[in-house]
Amino acid sequence: MTVDREKLSALLKWYRQAVGDDLIAAIIVDREGLIMDAVSSSEEKSVEEELVGGISTLVEPVLERITKEFSSGSFGTGTFDTDEYRLIFCEAGDLAVFVTVLDGLAMVDPVLPTAYLAAEKISRVFDGRSVSPVIPKIMTDKEGGKIERELNKLKKIKSKGDEYAFKLILAGDGAVGKTSMVHRFVEGKFESNYKATIGVSIMKKECEFPGLDTSVRFVLWDLAGQTQFRRVRKTYLKNAEAGIVVYDVTRKATFENIKDWYEDIKSSAPAISLILVGNKNDLVDQKEVSHEEGQQLADSLGVSYIETSAKTGENIEDAFRMLALEQIKKYFSAEKV
Ligand code: GTP
Ligand code: MG
Repeated sequence: MTVDREKLSALLKWYRQAVGDDLIAAIIVDREGLIMDAVSSSEEKSVEEELVGGISTLVEPVLERITKEFSSGSFGTGTFDTDEYRLIFCEAGDLAVFVTVLDGLAMVDPVLPTAYLAAEKISRVFDGRSVSPVIPKIMTDKEGGKIERELNKLKKIKSKGDEYAFKLILAGDGAVGKTSMVHRFVEGKFESNYKATIGVSIMKKECEFPGLDTSVRFVLWDLAGQTQFRRVRKTYLKNAEAGIVVYDVTRKATFENIKDWYEDIKSSAPAISLILVGNKNDLVDQKEVSHEEGQQLADSLGVSYIETSAKTGENIEDAFRMLALEQIKKYFSAEKV
């Protein structure tokens, strides 16, 4: 079996960036406990090796226990605390386990969606499927992490074949590519002719999370972006649990209107989880909004950010899956409190 090592290490670097300061190390191990790749908070090679070496002795006994549970099919994800560290174990396909090592004082819950996403991507690398190594920063509300720490206790948080269904809205100016994103996600197709959506278009899509033994059913409400439909928008926004706010990276005006969209959405659906998307990222030469500007706006709104292309398919699946994971996380948090 050949594993794309370069992709694994790029993925880990993205992961380190996405998790931020709380990350001590992230390690991919095989079922025997052998380290296949690792990244740590230190950029310096010798410090990194020492740190990862130290942690792997810590991981080994836990891994042994987990591997037993994995092979019996009773394990998907778990957290484990030591005096110094908090560890998250995620199954990454049949062959590997993805271990996240956090600072002892860090909150685990806000990191979980990112860890799931990384573990899923790692399993795709192992299967030889194509996957982007980019791991976006998933913003989570700090309240979500208010969960009692259970020291030195393996906690099972796997849901047993649960199903989630939720309403997801797509918002943003006319012709930014909302309908194209939905078509790419649902049908894997792209249409270059523009047909403005009238009012709203509703579609359904099932999304599997095999590692979690969970599936999510999206009901996608693709809103019309053109201003003449603004009047009817409020009704469509009601009861939306998740939303993708889209602008076109080649048209600055669509970026500048994001704040208005954000306010409209929040006033109709205050508890909604949102992500910001800069679409048409394939049109590199025509780009008017930089990645940094997009990230800054997302940070100021407290939402995650990702750049996509409905034309090439870049990051489309991830944008939807990120939101699904945030929903699952909310469910986990609610269940545990
Ligand atoms: P409204 O329904 O009016 O709100 O527009 P919309 O946001 O649904 O836009 P739509 O998906 O219809 O796309 C508008 C135009 O942009 C179409 O011509 C698409 O082919 C094109 N388009 C959408 N996404 C992309 C992309 O990622 N790259 C490129 N190059 N073109 C895109
Ligand atoms: Mg449309």
